[in-house]
Amino acid sequence: MSLDYLAIGLRWIHILSAATTIGGVMLIRFALLPAADTLPDDARRKLHDGVRARWKMVVHASIGLLLLSGFINFFRSLGMFPSGSAESKLYNALFGVKALLAFGVFGLAEVLVGSSPLAEKLRAKAKTWQTVNLVLLVLIVCLSGVMSRMHTAPNAAKAAVSTETVAP
Ligand code: HEM
Repeated sequence: MSLDYLAIGLRWIHILSAATTIGGVMLIRFALLPAADTLPDDARRKLHDGVRARWKMVVHASIGLLLLSGFINFFRSLGMFPSGSAESKLYNALFGVKALLAFGVFGLAEVLVGSSPLAEKLRAKAKTWQTVNLVLLVLIVCLSGVMSRMHTAPNAAKAAVSTETVAP
């Protein structure tokens, strides 16, 4: 058995960064924002400023790691399917849609932790925009699951065959 250690490392980085992003958006949307709504204006502003100052480091790091591991994964996947085949077209189409959605999520996340006039405007409807981000993230994970299964399912089938072969 030979293991592709680079692929495993990239997968760890990609999945951990994705989990951090999704978990963070969920916590903000379903716990932080509703809880902050119950505070007086001054305290609420202080809480949001404090969270944003700390959370933006995590947002920048997660985006950087997702882009790095995602692009390396994609370039390593080139040639996985015969060029022009139905599988290759589907994989590339899924990747294209996923990348566009991911750039939407990254853009929105960066604006929401930033200090531009647009950021102030979007933050006035923070719950709506965090919900939009969450929906996009769920779509991205679903598309990624299909991409992943397109080439990992045959390995599982091969493993099952070899287990049958060695079974007494
Ligand atoms: C919010 C952003 C993102 C999320 C939540 C996300 C999530 C995921 C997940 C859950 C997987 C499946 C991992 C596995 O089963 O091994 C995956 C795989 C992958 N992602 Fe991402 N990803 C994001 C951004 C990106 C970006 C920006 C790129 C490229 C520019 C990218 C490229 C890939 C590639 C090529 C794979 C491998 C798919 C395969 O196994 O064939 N991802 N991603």
